[in-house]
Amino acid sequence: MNSKPRIAVIIGSTRPTRFADAPAQWILKQAQAREDLDVELIDLRDHPLPFFDEMASNLWMPSQNPEAVRWQQTVGRFDGYIFVVAEYNHSITASLKNALDQAYKEWNRKPFTAIGYGGTGATRAVEHLRGIGVELQMVSTRAAVHIGGGDFMAVHPAFGNKPISEIEANLLQTAKTALDELAWWAKATMAAKAAEA
Ligand SMILES: Cc1cc2nc3c(=O)[nH]c(=O)nc-3n(C[C@H](O)[C@H](O)[C@H](O)COP(=O)(O)O)c2cc1C
Repeated sequence: MNSKPRIAVIIGSTRPTRFADAPAQWILKQAQAREDLDVELIDLRDHPLPFFDEMASNLWMPSQNPEAVRWQQTVGRFDGYIFVVAEYNHSITASLKNALDQAYKEWNRKPFTAIGYGGTGATRAVEHLRGIGVELQMVSTRAAVHIGGGDFMAVHPAFGNKPISEIEANLLQTAKTALDELAWWAKATMAAKAAEA
């Protein structure tokens, strides 16, 4: 068993002028600085998925669309996930929901955490994500990083446009807790699966 969990940072917004890259790069740096995780950036822009057009979830039958199959292979390579969560009308983006729907088995029994950003730090979107994760048989960390309020205004290009490093003192402790929890659950679920095999 590979003892070092492979973790994907998944960018959930695909629009051309997205802000998502700044929080994605910041959490990637925090996660890659750790010795206990192998971390890779996965951009939904590199996975041009159709809106879900299969006969059923791949829980029930193999998917037909080659992009869906390629996405499932990408998801399946990892032991856990860090979702970069924009809040669109109090939920996750349509592109992230679609990507979550386009795999099933590959998400099962794996943990995730999140970095959310928005007026309230995408707290409502991250809570929705946790509910979706239950149906996908995933486990959420308790902690997640939330860039909200004045911090969001300071770093968003429409307002202060400062680098995230300027507000990171407010984020570092939560990021450590969230990544510690993610590492714990990744190791625990990997060990349980290895024992079952
Ligand atoms: C369709 C849409 C809905 C939005 N709804 C919310 C919202 O419910 N809560 C919030 O805090 N920000 C909301 N915003 C503002 C986003 O937080 C902001 O545009 C952010 O940059 C979106 O992330 P992105 O740039 O990575 O796509 C919304 C933005 C869009 C485009």
